[in-house]
Amino acid sequence: MNFLSRQAPATRMRRMRRDAFSRQLMQENTLTAKDLILPVFILEGSNIEQDISAMPGVKRQSLDKLFATCERCVELGIPLIDLFPADLSGKSLMAEEAYNPDGLVPRAVREIRQRFPQLGVMTDIALDPYTTHGQDGIIDDTGYVLNDITIEVLIKQALCHAEAGVHIISPSDMMDGRIAALREALEANGHDLVRIMSYSAKYASCFYGPFREAVGSAGSLGKADKKTYQMDPANSNEALHEVALDIQEGADMVMIKPGMPYLDIIRRVKDEFAVPTFAYQVSGEYAMLQGAIQNGWLERDQAILESLMAFKRAGADGILTYYAIEAAQLLQQSA
Ligand code: PBG
Repeated sequence: MNFLSRQAPATRMRRMRRDAFSRQLMQENTLTAKDLILPVFILEGSNIEQDISAMPGVKRQSLDKLFATCERCVELGIPLIDLFPADLSGKSLMAEEAYNPDGLVPRAVREIRQRFPQLGVMTDIALDPYTTHGQDGIIDDTGYVLNDITIEVLIKQALCHAEAGVHIISPSDMMDGRIAALREALEANGHDLVRIMSYSAKYASCFYGPFREAVGSAGSLGKADKKTYQMDPANSNEALHEVALDIQEGADMVMIKPGMPYLDIIRRVKDEFAVPTFAYQVSGEYAMLQGAIQNGWLERDQAILESLMAFKRAGADGILTYYAIEAAQLLQQSA
């Protein structure tokens, strides 16, 4: 056999991979701190930082501790934080605490806006931290979440956050028609510049488990699930339908959630609608990665950055991730 007589390949894909400079030249997607949104868990009280057992490395913080986190975001160029209240007292069937103007979330919004004028502030619109049963809405006596009554409470919650100065509200409840109702209420009350990032395609996922421990709704929810309002993981066309409705109803941005197991949905949404599209690398994804990292089964820095780059490649404009600060630090070091 004469190997040398074989024709050389016309295209050698490895040529461009040979050196760092040519690998950089042909890099198709980029990840920067500007793509990242940090979800944070906030607590009443002062000088408190609590571990979350299923999310090692993430802490629930009282507001004074949160300010240090905000400062870090500003330093690193992370544009937005997303507030989730944890372990609230005053839970009720009708979730009245959700629109208490002196509640934890509106207070946090006012203080962050005042101290960190350049940082974007987003809040979650849903009732699960405020209901005794841990569902995202108001229930009837069979436990079914009532759509239209829930929307009335969500409107009050959104207006309360808007009065406090929130930049973006992020409805994560999956009620039908809530984007139109919230948009109309914001317009009617002088908050036409409040942006809406809709959890448009939110699946009924087991990957939210650690989050429910973090906010303290797991116990209230018990064995109940959210399948009568969150989507079936088997579905893909339904996600496009949801996104179409939310855009039509006035959403500025749409979100797909969870993230990594649903990259196909991100790609379809981006291709179909070409609107600002976001992905949520949820608590269970964090738990999986962090568990493997802590066991030494995955290399930390690459696991974090590769998992986030995948969202950019799938078409996401930005990513909600509990790794936002770590990732921004890594990106800063490699720049
Ligand atoms: C509540 C809400 C959830 C998450 C964000 N907002 C949990 C749920 O729907 O049960 C999950 C976030 C995460 O898992 O990181 N409406």
